[in-house]
Amino acid sequence: MTVPDIIIAVDGYSSTGKSSLAKQIARSLGFTYLDSGALYRGVTLFAQREGYISPDNTVSDSLQAALDSLQLFFGEGNHCFMDGEDVEEQIRSMSVSSQVSPIAAVPYVREWVDCRLHSLSFSGRVVMDGRDIGTTVFPNAEVKIFMTASDSVRAKRRYDELVSKGQKADLTEVLENLRQRDWIDSHRETSPLRRAEDAFVLDNSEMTMEEELCWVRGLIQGKFGILE
Ligand code: DC
Repeated sequence: MTVPDIIIAVDGYSSTGKSSLAKQIARSLGFTYLDSGALYRGVTLFAQREGYISPDNTVSDSLQAALDSLQLFFGEGNHCFMDGEDVEEQIRSMSVSSQVSPIAAVPYVREWVDCRLHSLSFSGRVVMDGRDIGTTVFPNAEVKIFMTASDSVRAKRRYDELVSKGQKADLTEVLENLRQRDWIDSHRETSPLRRAEDAFVLDNSEMTMEEELCWVRGLIQGKFGILE
């Protein structure tokens, strides 16, 4: 399928499989995949390591100036690198997951991430996943998908993911963390998680990845009148 140079925004709740689907779309169309959540996670890891966030989730104002020198980028295997170090595993840990929402609620952190997302996608042909891509970062994205799934399905997926990576996990704790993140993400003042009016909703509670990809390809074909 030959698709024009467009931006595809995949937003939605935590652990709905946004990144898995976005990666598949990118592979299937030959697009670049950008994981905006990884940048928020990277900033969180940085804030934890440098002591800019306290255990009670208070974020120090000095983080703003410190971000000027932070080098976060995507390297080999689409892993996230911080100042040259591969931090892909650390940014997915429960420790980072439990503090990423307060960090992502800070307006200057959001500006910092948005700025990077814009520079990384200047040439188009990008699939990006996050919470506010279709509403704030790229309100003119040509294709917008909003993903959702039941809490229990999402918690089980996240739990399985952690266990498969050899990390310690507790299903109840994972479910609690997920609900907390959903709440903070959709109630924060700056750029809350919400469906863009022109986004198509995909509830994948009972769908396989093939079915999801087929749904997206159908959406793109319908929108651009492409025949396979
Ligand atoms: O998609 P994820 O779970 O890796 O995202 C981590 C956190 O980052 C999530 O709790 C909300 C935040 N986030 C955001 O606020 N805006 C985005 N565009 C992407 C992620």
